Amino acid sequence: MRSERLDLVLMPIPLIDAFIAQDRAAVDRLADYRVPASFPTAGALALLRFRREQLTHDPSRSPWLLRAIVLRDTRRMIGFVNFHGPPGSNDVGAPDAVELGWTVFPNHRRRGYATETARALMNWAATERGIRRFISSTTPDNAPSLRVHNKLGFARTGQVVDGEIIFELRR
Ligand SMILES: CC(C)(COP(=O)(O)OP(=O)(O)OC[C@H]1O[C@@H](n2cnc3c(N)ncnc32)[C@H](O)[C@@H]1OP(=O)(O)O)[C@@H](O)C(=O)NCCC(=O)NCCS
Repeated sequence: MRSERLDLVLMPIPLIDAFIAQDRAAVDRLADYRVPASFPTAGALALLRFRREQLTHDPSRSPWLLRAIVLRDTRRMIGFVNFHGPPGSNDVGAPDAVELGWTVFPNHRRRGYATETARALMNWAATERGIRRFISSTTPDNAPSLRVHNKLGFARTGQVVDGEIIFELRR
């Protein structure tokens, strides 16, 4: 999956395992892009473990799960993105919807990468999987994330789940 400036590269199970084991030599062998020393943070590590567990139970989830956001020009990993899973895996239990989550590393923010990433991911889901309904959520104090939702055309549903505002986009 690619966009104008980015490659969104699926993380295969051996690479996820290398991240969890914090085995840098294996990471460098398995990733054809440069991973910053700061990845994974504690939060990212928890997400990697959770997604790894899901893949153990259901390997068919793989295309929906973790991708590195890679800047094509420099081959640097600048963030990561995933769907929560196939249709139905979302905060509001909508059977036809997929939910996205994205992170851009701090020193690469405010260059439009999160917006470009989310658009590419939704285009893939729409054209390859026929998805028409997208869910996303963020906390009310996350101004950059709120702005990204606005730029993408997401609308508030009025629901709040675990303190997060639920957004929806229909295409
Ligand atoms: C939210 C996040 C992904 C945005 O990444 P990004 O690549 O900087 O996003 P973009 O450049 O596409 O857009 C950011 C927008 O927020 C704006 N912005 C940034 N900081 C802001 C602030 N403090 N207040 C208001 N707007 C702000 C930027 O100006 C930009 O809007 P613009 O294009 O109109 O100028 C990034 O901040 C991040 O990873 N945060 C931590 C993880 C997270 O919160 N993820 C979202 C939850 S799903």
